[in-house]
Amino acid sequence: MTHTSLALIPDFDLSAHNTLALGARSRLGASITEPGMVPDVLAAAAAQGLRLRILGGGSNVVLAPEFDGITAVMAIRGRRVVETDARGTLIEVAAGENWHELVTWTVAQGLGGVENLAGIPGTVGAAPVQNIGAYGVEVADVFETLVAYDCVEGRERVFVRDECAFAYRDSLFKREPGRFVVLSLRLRLPQPWVPRLSFAGLSDLDGEITPKAVMDRVLALRGSKLPDWRVTPNAGSFFQNPIVSVAEAEPVLAEFPMAPAFPQADGRLKLSAGWLIEKSGLKGFRLGPVGMSERHALVLVNYGGAVAEDVAALAEHVKRTVRERFGVQLHEEPVFC
Ligand code: EPU
Repeated sequence: MTHTSLALIPDFDLSAHNTLALGARSRLGASITEPGMVPDVLAAAAAQGLRLRILGGGSNVVLAPEFDGITAVMAIRGRRVVETDARGTLIEVAAGENWHELVTWTVAQGLGGVENLAGIPGTVGAAPVQNIGAYGVEVADVFETLVAYDCVEGRERVFVRDECAFAYRDSLFKREPGRFVVLSLRLRLPQPWVPRLSFAGLSDLDGEITPKAVMDRVLALRGSKLPDWRVTPNAGSFFQNPIVSVAEAEPVLAEFPMAPAFPQADGRLKLSAGWLIEKSGLKGFRLGPVGMSERHALVLVNYGGAVAEDVAALAEHVKRTVRERFGVQLHEEPVFC
């Protein structure tokens, strides 16, 4: 099979390839525009004894200043409606497509299912890896199958939902970093469409409830709460909302009975990391060129010129302060690589 040959670019600048806008370079860079280029880039890395790192939209990573290996940017494009039947509309999307553009494309056709996930930065291929979620919906809810290249077995594999181990901001693909390269995704947009409006800020939506109306409200909510990475570089929520036992939540709830705490199916409680950080006095806190946003305490922002070390120092400070204040351990959401 013939395909586009792989071009390796020396001293690849990644500062425009991560939404935190960290200064970052890679010894070699490449753009993957076809599935067949994945084995090529793996072979190139093996031949040169270099590590390989695959990057999507760079919206959930903290990139090291120097990467002594190959950074390949996922850029396979394409999206189509596969079929429409009684269960809904099945769409297939390549990993390098922009997630938000996919959402607007479905909504423009009147198709509902992912409108609550509007405005999330990053690529389609990254969406299932951390099972992106917002406003009461996760990508797992509409997931049908995905195709990924398995770097261990050296072949493409199809995964159905039950094989993906989806959980809150988690999946099989996240648990085995470096093993799978997602190539495309199939989503089932359900028929009939049932709007998901239980989340605060959506429940008072009035007028005609359409996927477009829900998307517009989600975008307005995000715009009112979250700093825009194009203006103030950031990687969205920097910590996961901690899921703790009732006993671990006790010190928080004893002092603040109204603290946000959401019961989980397994009896544990999901606390709000943004709330814990704010109550620890760190909303708007700055350390060198980075800080916790004064708009949303969970978002770590780069005020200019930051590198990974600055981010790590602030993250450690936040984790220590919250641990000392509430006895709760926070975990970073972005991947340091
Ligand atoms: N809160 C504060 N102070 C703050 C920020 C939030 O007290 O500075 C409180 C809020 O008042 C609310 C609670 O924390 O009671 C939750 O806040 P919010 O509704 O903003 O949601 P979140 O839990 O902070 C999660 C996701 C977001 C997603 C929103 C909406 C995680 C880690 N984050 O944030 O996802 O957009 O819900 O569904 O689960 C992302 O992952 O990058 C992301 C932005």
